[in-house]
Amino acid sequence: MGVSLALGLLFGAAALYGGAAACGYQSCSVTKPNMLNVHLIPHTHDDVGWLKTVDQYFFGVRNDIQHAGVQYILDSVIPQLLADPSKRFIYVEVAFFARWWGLQTEAMRQAVRQLVAEGRLEFVNGGWCMNDEAAVHYSSVIDQMSLGLHFLQETFGECGRPRVAWHIDPFGHSREQASLFAQMGYDGFFLGRIDYQDKAHREALREMEQLWRASGSLEPPVADLFTGVLPNGYNPPMSLCWDQSCSDDPIVDEDSDENNVQSLVTYFLGVAAAQSKHYRTNHIVMTMGSDFQYENAQLWYKNMDKLIKHVNAQQLRGSHVHVLYSTPSCYLWELNQANMSWSVKQDDFFPYADGPHQFWTGYFTSRPALKRYERLSNNFLQVCNQLEVLAGTRANVGPYGNSSSSELRKAMGVAQHHDAVSGTAKQHVTNDYAKQLSSGWDACQVVISNALASIGGSKENFMFCTYLNISICPLTEAANKFMVMIYNPLPRHVNQNIRLPVNGSHYSVTAPDGQPVLNEVIPVSTFTRCVQRNRGNAINELVFQASAPPLGYSSYTISKLPSKSLAHSKLLKRLYDQTLPGMQHLSWGIQNEHLRVLFDPKTGLLKEIQNLDKSISLPVSQNFFWYNASIGNDDISQASGAYIFRPNASEPFPITEGVRLYKVKTQVVQEVYQNFSSWCSQVVRLYAGQPYIELEWTIGPIPIGDGLGKEVITRFDTNLQTDGRFYTDSNGREILERRRDYRATWNLSQTEPVAGNYYPVNSRIYIKDQKVQLTVLTDRSQGGSSTADGSLELMVHRRLLYDDNRGVGEPLLEPGIYHDGLVVRGRHLILLDTAESSAEQHRLLAQQEFMAPQLVLVPGGGPPYQPGQRSLKQFSALRQALPSNIHLLTLAQWEPDSILIRLEHQFERGESANSSMPVTVNLMNMFLSFNIITIQEMNLAANQKREDMRRLIWQSDADVASHRSARKLDPTRIVLQPMEIRTFLAQIQQESGI
Ligand SMILES: *[C@@H]1O[C@H](CO)[C@@H](O)[C@H](O)[C@H]1NC(C)=O
Ligand SMILES: *[C@@H]1O[C@H](CO)[C@@H](O)[C@H](O)[C@H]1NC(C)=O
Ligand SMILES: [Zn+2]
Repeated sequence: MGVSLALGLLFGAAALYGGAAACGYQSCSVTKPNMLNVHLIPHTHDDVGWLKTVDQYFFGVRNDIQHAGVQYILDSVIPQLLADPSKRFIYVEVAFFARWWGLQTEAMRQAVRQLVAEGRLEFVNGGWCMNDEAAVHYSSVIDQMSLGLHFLQETFGECGRPRVAWHIDPFGHSREQASLFAQMGYDGFFLGRIDYQDKAHREALREMEQLWRASGSLEPPVADLFTGVLPNGYNPPMSLCWDQSCSDDPIVDEDSDENNVQSLVTYFLGVAAAQSKHYRTNHIVMTMGSDFQYENAQLWYKNMDKLIKHVNAQQLRGSHVHVLYSTPSCYLWELNQANMSWSVKQDDFFPYADGPHQFWTGYFTSRPALKRYERLSNNFLQVCNQLEVLAGTRANVGPYGNSSSSELRKAMGVAQHHDAVSGTAKQHVTNDYAKQLSSGWDACQVVISNALASIGGSKENFMFCTYLNISICPLTEAANKFMVMIYNPLPRHVNQNIRLPVNGSHYSVTAPDGQPVLNEVIPVSTFTRCVQRNRGNAINELVFQASAPPLGYSSYTISKLPSKSLAHSKLLKRLYDQTLPGMQHLSWGIQNEHLRVLFDPKTGLLKEIQNLDKSISLPVSQNFFWYNASIGNDDISQASGAYIFRPNASEPFPITEGVRLYKVKTQVVQEVYQNFSSWCSQVVRLYAGQPYIELEWTIGPIPIGDGLGKEVITRFDTNLQTDGRFYTDSNGREILERRRDYRATWNLSQTEPVAGNYYPVNSRIYIKDQKVQLTVLTDRSQGGSSTADGSLELMVHRRLLYDDNRGVGEPLLEPGIYHDGLVVRGRHLILLDTAESSAEQHRLLAQQEFMAPQLVLVPGGGPPYQPGQRSLKQFSALRQALPSNIHLLTLAQWEPDSILIRLEHQFERGESANSSMPVTVNLMNMFLSFNIITIQEMNLAANQKREDMRRLIWQSDADVASHRSARKLDPTRIVLQPMEIRTFLAQIQQESGI
């Protein structure tokens, strides 16, 4: 009763001030042009899981681990805002806000709507989480931002659209992230953490605020984003933290021995003056808050009220400092109004170091299994999204139950958080992230089953074998006859090598058109058996190449043959040794039509790669090594940990000098098995017809019995003259050049020759000379470098005995499900080509990695979906394949009556003679499964019409005249420029018949 009375009074106050105010820049408080304006930004930083799970943080469970309860923060802040219209607050993480919102009364919601409408409660960033930038893939960043922003748009309308991006905690910043934010319509971006040398340099030069030109392909100002580095991370100035979690003195302005107004005001003026020396305008910002603060908001606001009162009172005595409650967008607005010309940044903010031996480059690799699961989950989510659109409501309501893609989308939103996919959460929280993803998979399996039954016309017992990477699948192990549906989410034809665990030794494989398919049966390797332990009982793997049509599937029928009968595959025998002269002499090599891979007969290590089409041969020696993780020493206590990579010597140890080899040679695939140690093995594979080499590595449990933490790398050493340069992708899109011991914007003092040269690799890394390029594609994010000319390395796994003192409070000692150390298996795809034609291959291959075909196993014999309906063995939702440089990045249900389509040009400008050209496609004539009724082009996050995008204009030192006017949309002629993504909302009508 008492509570509702108090709220009633507060709502009254809100209504009183409600009339005139507006949100956005109009709501900003008046500042003083002749003074130093200090913008106080009350804020809380609420990690979407870290030391506690998302639920534990929301409810305030396990306060013994960390005192934090997000529900209380919002409960506490809102009445403070309602009581005083001068007060401001920002909120960031929609995963938490949406949950809190769902629990509020209509009266409270109405009050909050009013606060948002008046700009008193402002959303900044507004994604589902504040995502990591080193280990994320752009596809998932766009999705998680769109998810959060969609909630804000639906709930608060235009006043809920954030103007400012706010990544105050991620541990380094990627250029692609800035590019995506710019394309989402943000006016500015604020960061908390940059390299300590970089920061000192910027402070001295007053370059804390700049214009970031975040794309080498998109025409400015499309990917330009005003970017500011905050003065003190995201914390308040020292001694001015008034949260209940802090122990700084409150302001005492009463007649008391404890009165401290004079000294605090003097101190504050000193802090403000010092800070303003590093910034260019007469506006500075102070972040008044920190992790999970404002649970008792009264403490903060009461003291800030006094601070403002007493500091501003000094103006009567000649002070030129004006303090005010503000928000990031109000501060940004003042910077924009200053009409200055800003310097331009073109590189990124990696790697991040907070001291000479504190490089945060370990998390690029930390928790490799979670990193892979996250990437694979995106693949599955995109398939789920697509089928939800293609089958319409029959995907959501069907014979397998009622379900939607929403659960996996939210789990993926959570997984992008800067302590989730980054690998920097506690173990129990990491387990919870995996569990959320897994529940999302369950929901999407229902969606996909419903959709495939509807499209395919047959109610099959669809099975999703999620352990195929370690050759476990109960159906294929046991059945004499079954089908495999290969669903291809790409808008072009793909060929995919299929491997299924089986127990027979002869099989027939039949393509959808009834043609027999060449296949081979090879034994399950001892490497795989070691990982399986006692799971699965297949003795063999059936291998064949399948193909699938654009945005559709093919069903292959597989039958076990009596073992004595003449095997199907032998009937189709193509004589390798005859068609490829010289092969029979290469007892230590394997080769296909395009590539030859040679091994050193003495060491068993890879020795040379040849591209037969281009007559390139490159000596390449590859081996696994480990860095001995520092545990800290007398001088510097820093240990290697979940965040920080600190090897205690620059030279890593080879796991072995020589490996035992054996070879499997069939017509479909040739494999060399390399056993490096009891915990490290690799299979080198060449599939017939494929222009790349696949290296499947299996690492773990990393032994720690010797008391040494180990950081395991794979390293490729060549004689390429690389001049200290190597190349890594930024979040799976544009490529950035890296130079050893070098930073583009300051004179680096290199203090960690290995860790200080590590960069995030989200999808690929390469080295090249004038002619030849060696590219390695990864299946998840990893750290990578080139520590010597001609050399390229990727960190694949790490197991550490000490915490690195950055808060997580646990050593990175992943136990795995058997509690003796995590085993990780992954793949690297190797391309050797000319430097000028490599992009053509790595772009398409990387795309096929993150949007790989989804296999669905089917016992067969299910009843028809509708009486009399025939089952469909092949299906494509496109009228024709899209050009190979165009990617269908998104096809997803958006609202009940609209879908989201994103088309992407996936080549950079100048990267490929053919593929870097602009492309025109006809959206109205693209899909077979539905007709587009209405269509609207949106910004990248789909929370604003493209024609309404009016970002603040910033003048730069490298000024650009071209401000593109909004194009009139002709959906029959959609032009895509290199690296351009175009986003559309469409209303559709399903074609009858599916
Ligand atoms: C900046 O330019 C705008 C528009 O021309 C003008 O209204 C404003 O007064 C200028 N601000 C300053 C600080 O010169
Ligand atoms: C699924 O949804 C349909 C239509 O809304 C409803 O009739 C049916 O009972 C639901 N089934 C389940 C299992 O919830
Ligand atoms: Zn954080």
